[in-house]
This record gives sequence, C-alpha cells and structure tokens, in this order.
Amino acid sequence: MRKPLVAGNWKMNGTRASVAALTEAVKAGAKALDQTDIAVCPPFVFLGEVSAALRGSRVGVGAQDVSRHSSGAFTGEVSAPMLKELGCQYALVGHSERRTYHCETSELVAQKMVAVAKQGMIPVVCVGETLQERESNHTESVIAEQLAALMDTTETWDALRHAVIAYEPVWAIGTGKTATPQQAQEVHAFIRRVLGQKDVGLASAMRILYGGSVKGDNAVELFAMADIDGGLIGGASLKAEEFLAICQAARAK
Ligand code: PGA
Repeated sequence: MRKPLVAGNWKMNGTRASVAALTEAVKAGAKALDQTDIAVCPPFVFLGEVSAALRGSRVGVGAQDVSRHSSGAFTGEVSAPMLKELGCQYALVGHSERRTYHCETSELVAQKMVAVAKQGMIPVVCVGETLQERESNHTESVIAEQLAALMDTTETWDALRHAVIAYEPVWAIGTGKTATPQQAQEVHAFIRRVLGQKDVGLASAMRILYGGSVKGDNAVELFAMADIDGGLIGGASLKAEEFLAICQAARAK
C-alpha cells in the first residue's frame, strides 16, 4: 500500500509574517487529514521557524534544494546535515527550475539525492520533459535519461530506495496547463516500468507524485489515476485552503 504524499513547494515566496500565517493554517487543517503525508517546502531562510512551528504536527518540512557536499568552502550552499539539524524530513532535488536556471545535470541531481538519503531524509527527485521534448516525441527518452542517473551505481540505487519521484512536465509548471490525467498516468506507469526493470518490489512501492498546475479542482481526477501517489504543488500551495483541498483529494494505492 502506498500512502500518498502531497508536498507544497513555496518557491521564492513569502515574508516572515505571511509564512507564519500559512504555516499555522496548514497545520490546523492537516489535523483531520491522516490518510495523507503532507509536507511544505519553504525558502531556506524560513526553514527554522517553519520547522519549529510544525514540530509535533502532521506536517513535515522540506528544503527546495540541497548541496551535494556535506560542508566546506561552497559559498551560498546549504548542506543536507544542516537541513537535518533544522528538522527537515524532505528535500526536493532536481526541480526543473534548478535544472534549467542553475544548469543542474542528472548526475548532480543523483549526487544530491544521495546526500539527502544519507542523512535519513527523503529526497523528492523531480523529473520531467519540456514542451519541445514532448512534441518531438522524446518524453520517454528524456525521463529515462533522468532516471538512469538515479539508478546508475549501488550508492544511487540505495538512496533511491528512500526517495519519492515527482513527475513534473516542465510545460505544466506554473503555466496553468495541466497534463491530462491520462497523459500523467502514462508517464507515471512508464517510470514504474523503468524502475521495475531493476527491482519490481521497489517499483511497486515507489511513491510517484505529479506536479504541474495542480489545483483544488483538478486534483481529484489526477490523484484517482492508478500510478499517481499525490502531488508536488507550487502556486496552489501558497493558499492554505486550496492546498488542504488538494491534500484531501489524495488517495492510497
Ligand atoms: P505549479 O508548480 O503547481 O505552480 O505548477 C509545481 C512545481 O513547480 O513544483
């Protein structure tokens, strides 16, 4: 049985006051939603406060990125042990905004996944194709390349056992264009097949989230699909009521 996960990616949004209010509202609303794992991923600077506010609640905390290194002369970076100490249970790795704007390669994403898993946290590894790649029929080869880096060595494979995968078609992120439930299901099933070529047990246990313009009004039909185990939510996670409605739509598989 796969317990669904819904994670809110707040991206680079919020002030101390708005983040505190959003955190309290999500915490209060999440009490009744024990069928679903719920997490929020605030900007780094708010992680300590959000994590303290959510301690003992049903809502987990995640970072939006992490360094592959554990310490040292890496100006501006934040390490997995630091995130662990702040109370994070999750860290996103390989979000398409990181891959695109910060030139993160699939190999780097795999190293970040390893760094997160080594601290006993859950890496949420994002994969997804651009519009051009979809239109030129390359969706599966792009996803396969992104997955291959995660399955490459014993070290990455061991880390992958602790990970969650988020399928986020780049063309659906923040655009208001959602993949249809069928389009999303096809890719989720493909991801499970690829993992299954190496380990059927891991493939059937892996939680695969959908992300890309999930809203309160399309979450039910997306989350009803056989291989969709929750969501990674951007814009809609900034409104507590809408985020909680999305959490409520998640179903165990
Ligand atoms: P969106 O973002 O829900 O605003 O499309 C999703 C994401 O980037 O994780």
